[in-house]
This record gives sequence, structure tokens and C-alpha cells, in this order.
Amino acid sequence: MAQINPSILSANFARLAEEAEAVKGSDWLHVDVMDNHFVPNLTLGVPVVESLARATDIPLDCHLMIEEPDRWAPQYVEAGAGSVTFHVEAAAAPVRLAREIRAKGARASMALKPGTPIEPYEDLLPELDMLLIMTVEPGFGGQAFLDIMLPKIRRTRQLIDKHGLELWLQVDGGVSASTIERCAEAGADVFVAGSAVYGAKDPAGAVRDLRALADSATAEAWWTCGH
Ligand code: DX5
Ligand code: ZN
Repeated sequence: MAQINPSILSANFARLAEEAEAVKGSDWLHVDVMDNHFVPNLTLGVPVVESLARATDIPLDCHLMIEEPDRWAPQYVEAGAGSVTFHVEAAAAPVRLAREIRAKGARASMALKPGTPIEPYEDLLPELDMLLIMTVEPGFGGQAFLDIMLPKIRRTRQLIDKHGLELWLQVDGGVSASTIERCAEAGADVFVAGSAVYGAKDPAGAVRDLRALADSATAEAWWTCGH
């Protein structure tokens, strides 16, 4: 079944516990950490993640859009994140970092910006629990989905199949009722949605609708048909 991870970047930051409650039934809560260096925007850090982890039962999927993730990522595991994603463009030693995240007890995930190809990282994939393919330039919610990322999603799914990996493939950016089926068809199985969830009148209903769309597209997809 497709996993839907609402992004609190589009939520009310003064009411994060209630905003988490509003998407009950979600698989993960996506938390965008930005440092105003790796991306031109600033959001929240370790203390907020620590408080939020205590305030909700939904596990936290922390997406670190920061410089020096080698130094900071382990602190997000300690703060209570169930999954920590670092950007490969910022990591000094991605294998060592993924191993450290796993050793501390969280799922290790690596993200690629739109201009970063997957092919150089084929041999790293067994070190990861999830790969995040950005479908917008990281930094802001509400941007238009980049269709040109679909071939990269497809090629990544082929690599996952080729190596027989249990790797989740996440997409983030511009995911909505009008784009989620294309992502699922291409090979994604974890979907981040910010504005499509928190911009809806009924956020929990939006999560259910997105999951239904993703599930039916997955059932027809090339990478699940006949499997
Ligand atoms: C963008 C963030 C996303 C953002 C997505 O840099 O990584 O998680 O919240 O927002 P939407 O779904 O509105 O594109
Ligand atoms: Zn994100």
C-alpha cells in the first residue's frame, strides 16, 4: 500500500501538535528542516523535532535540507525521528552517515535534487532504507511538479528491482491528486504532500484520497504488474 507523508511545511507552525492530529492515519509526518544555506529558506531544528516527536504518535520523517548533515543528522535520530533523510549533495561521507543513522536506530534515507543523477549512487543503495527523489527544487512548498523527474523515478525503480532491494522510493514536491498517479506509475511508493494535504478543507480526507489514487495507479504499474 502506498504511504502518504503530509509535509508540515504547509501547516500552521504555531499549532504543530494539532496539525499532526489533523492528519491522523498518515504513515509518517514529513518534517522539512532548512538552514538557509543548503536552501534559501529557514524552518526549524532539533528542539522543535524533539517536542513534536513527544506530541504525536505519527512517526517523523525528517528531511534535512542543510549543510553538514554528517554533523547534524544523528541529532535528529536522538530527537526522536523515525527516518532521517540527508541530501547527497551536502554529505561528506554518505555511506558512513547512513550507517550511523541506522546504528542509532532510525531509517536512513538519501535525497537527490532534480539535477543530481541516480546512476553514480547505484552501489550505495543497499546502505539505505529510502531514496528521496525531489520533484521540485528544494526550499519551498507549493511549487509545480517537475514532470521531467519521471524517467529518474523509473530508472531508480529498475535499479531497486535489479538488486532485489527493500528500498522505499519517496517523491517530494508538487505531489497532488493530479500528479500522484504518474509518480506511482513510474515507481514511487512513498509520497510527500504539503499543500495538497494542508491546503484541503479536510486534511485527513485528502490523505485518504491521495492514497486511493496512488494505490490504484500502483496496481496497474509496470513495476508491480505480474509481480
Ligand atoms: C520542499 C519540501 C517539501 C514541501 C512540499 O523543499 O521538501 O517537503 O513541503 O510541498 P508541496 O507538496 O506543497 O510541493
Ligand atoms: Zn521535504
